[in-house]
Amino acid sequence: MAPLEKILRPELMEIPPYNTGLGLNEVRSRYGITAVAKLSSNENPSGPAPQVLECLSQANSELYLYPNSEALPLRKAIAQRLDVPEKQIIFGNGSEELISIICRSTINSGDRVITLFPSFPLHEDYTKLMGGSVERLVINDNLQIDLAKLVERAAQPAKLLIFSNPMNPSGSWLNPEQLRKLFEAMHPETLLVLDEAYHEYAVHGDYTSGLELTERIKGHWILLRTFSKSWGLAGLRIGFGVCSSTELRQALDRTRTPFNINSLAQIAAKVALDHEDYMLHSVQQTILQREHLAKELRSRGYQVGESLGNFLFINANRSSAKFAEELLKLGTIVKPWPQPGYDTFLRVSIGTPAENEKFLVDLAQVEAS
Ligand SMILES: Cc1ncc(COP(=O)(O)O)c(C=O)c1O
Repeated sequence: MAPLEKILRPELMEIPPYNTGLGLNEVRSRYGITAVAKLSSNENPSGPAPQVLECLSQANSELYLYPNSEALPLRKAIAQRLDVPEKQIIFGNGSEELISIICRSTINSGDRVITLFPSFPLHEDYTKLMGGSVERLVINDNLQIDLAKLVERAAQPAKLLIFSNPMNPSGSWLNPEQLRKLFEAMHPETLLVLDEAYHEYAVHGDYTSGLELTERIKGHWILLRTFSKSWGLAGLRIGFGVCSSTELRQALDRTRTPFNINSLAQIAAKVALDHEDYMLHSVQQTILQREHLAKELRSRGYQVGESLGNFLFINANRSSAKFAEELLKLGTIVKPWPQPGYDTFLRVSIGTPAENEKFLVDLAQVEAS
């Protein structure tokens, strides 16, 4: 039998395994705790609008059929809502699949890919898998994006510039003026992938979607959104991208598997959009809670990044892996950030008021122990 190294692509071995962390039930059974606060994956604890759950319970008569490969009703709804051509929309099994599709469709060995750092790991991982060379632009000590450096780097040709706005994990963002400057400075040969997973939370701050500024972009672009965060549908796996042209979307579609969006996800996302008020209300609650939590943590002496997402990036000033382990034993699940230079940071999602309170109480207990 051949050794596995001969079978597997060497790039694969460079990629650290993705740490999804423990789920609610695993923590309950491992530590024998019933009250668990899961604040590790930036989900929306309010879930989707009740109408989504109702429609799902009635939607099982067509489950024996393959899903609509084009997700037509949903495509039309999104196109209308965002005022973009239907043919420029591509769907993914979560926006993470779209990151994979984009990287697999574009990156050749040795290609330069610019990203912000610390980063959503998949922006780097799929680049590495294709043999691309990741160029990290580190945020500053205030956990904010260094626009001057970003503009300088982006002016040089690269295969991709990929980052999320607001950023995960720091929550920092480029404001409309900064985004405009970046777009104008970008090299026209570079494909821009702007990941707006947290758009619905950010839109209430000094932020605008890249979609509002696309006429400033000289090259090709793809903008990513997801139903996993504000829309409360992480478990159904659905996200989408808007591409700068139909030709680009058609090219990416060759990498996409034809039935990548399951029927229930398509139905649920459409009904969720029809009941936007529910999402808007939960986003407002989250923003209030985020600001309350940030203020409390800062008053306890922690460095907390300004965030427009549904999460906070907190410097625990000690090994965050150990800190998170101690919190876990008390039933609070948070994400220790393992990337170099940030391994004293925790990323904490904004939960329900009760979950956030539990986090603060558990934090104080770990600090005191
Ligand atoms: C910045 C960013 N992009 C993409 C994703 C992937 O989201 P999904 O695949 O659930 O749409 C996440 C998830 O946490 C994220 O933080």
